Amino acid sequence: MSIIHAAITGVGGYVPDYILTNQELETMVETSDEWITSRTGIKERRILKGENKGVSVMGIAAVKQMLSKTKTDPREIDLIIFATVTPDMPFPATANVVAAAVGAVNSFSFDIGAACSGFLFALETGARFIQSGIYKKVIVIGGDKMSSILDYKDRTTCIIFGDGAGCVLLEPTSEKVGVLDSILKSDGTGESYLNMKAGGSRIPATHESVAARQHFVYQEGAAVFKFAVTNTADVAAQIAERNQLTPETISWLVPHQANKRIIDATANRVGITEDKVMMNIAKYGNTTAGTIPLLLWDYEKQLKKGDNLILAAFGGGFTWVAVYVKWAYDYH
Ligand SMILES: CC(C)(COP(=O)(O)OP(=O)(O)OC[C@H]1O[C@@H](n2cnc3c(N)ncnc32)[C@H](O)[C@@H]1OP(=O)(O)O)[C@@H](O)C(=O)NCCC(=O)NCCS
Repeated sequence: MSIIHAAITGVGGYVPDYILTNQELETMVETSDEWITSRTGIKERRILKGENKGVSVMGIAAVKQMLSKTKTDPREIDLIIFATVTPDMPFPATANVVAAAVGAVNSFSFDIGAACSGFLFALETGARFIQSGIYKKVIVIGGDKMSSILDYKDRTTCIIFGDGAGCVLLEPTSEKVGVLDSILKSDGTGESYLNMKAGGSRIPATHESVAARQHFVYQEGAAVFKFAVTNTADVAAQIAERNQLTPETISWLVPHQANKRIIDATANRVGITEDKVMMNIAKYGNTTAGTIPLLLWDYEKQLKKGDNLILAAFGGGFTWVAVYVKWAYDYH
């Protein structure tokens, strides 16, 4: 019996229209375009405006686009996984909301929370369902509405994040393409450096928790930076090495977009030049679980069948991950 591989056979994405520039942030907190650009590489980010619009709005748009591009009947979808830390509600899962909205009436669906590593944890999970031989079409979405949990009075966090979502379709193939290898890691001792303290079962929402601004992202940036830079580079280098991938045979590094300095360090460690590094941090900032599918969406036209991609991310938890994907199709 031949081995079943999980191929990425389509990509979709969505970013909201509203552009929050560094210049506008200068009017909101004490910061400067120069500081943000030199410390992070971010120039602008997208914000989902409007009442009662959760992350599902962006996930639905991304999935509808992908279904239309790949001419896929939503009734054929077996499973939808949504990686997010900003679900529409604690329950039901936002993946269920998406399934209903796109007509995936025969699917089951659930969310995964692994912060900025969420999309790659979900991609590996989706790939395993495909490899079981039971599931034939799996949609993996990564997206966040970070503006819903940001304190726009805290200059250390509000300048980094933005809103957006992307998705991929996974299907089985006997060719050696798709999700070929992965290294997934987590370390719960990282909890104190990057979290949202209230709104869960430990500190449910109260007037006091709101007054104490505990429903916003809390980050000790410099500490997170140190963990992120080492661990992202480590797993990216490890996965390249154990798959005998060299700077010459790696087609693209697809790194989480948290900070351009972390991206550069990872590229250096893997030994590849900037022309092989997917990057859109300048225009979207850090969309948490959205960054990696949005990169695939932005670069889809440049990808060719057989390209070797190293995808790598680091996030709250801590969590970190690298995935080796061999691209399965030429764009047409
Ligand atoms: C957040 C981050 C950009 C901050 O950059 P940094 O170089 O570490 O900056 P520091 O936090 O050490 O702060 C340096 C100074 O800049 C100031 N500063 C922080 N944010 C600022 C802003 N937006 N504008 C101007 N100054 C700012 C700080 O107050 C500090 O001032 P001080 O020296 O007078 O105390 C960086 O730490 C980072 O990217 N961290 C990792 C983020 C990440 O990867 N998250 C995980 C995935 S989500």
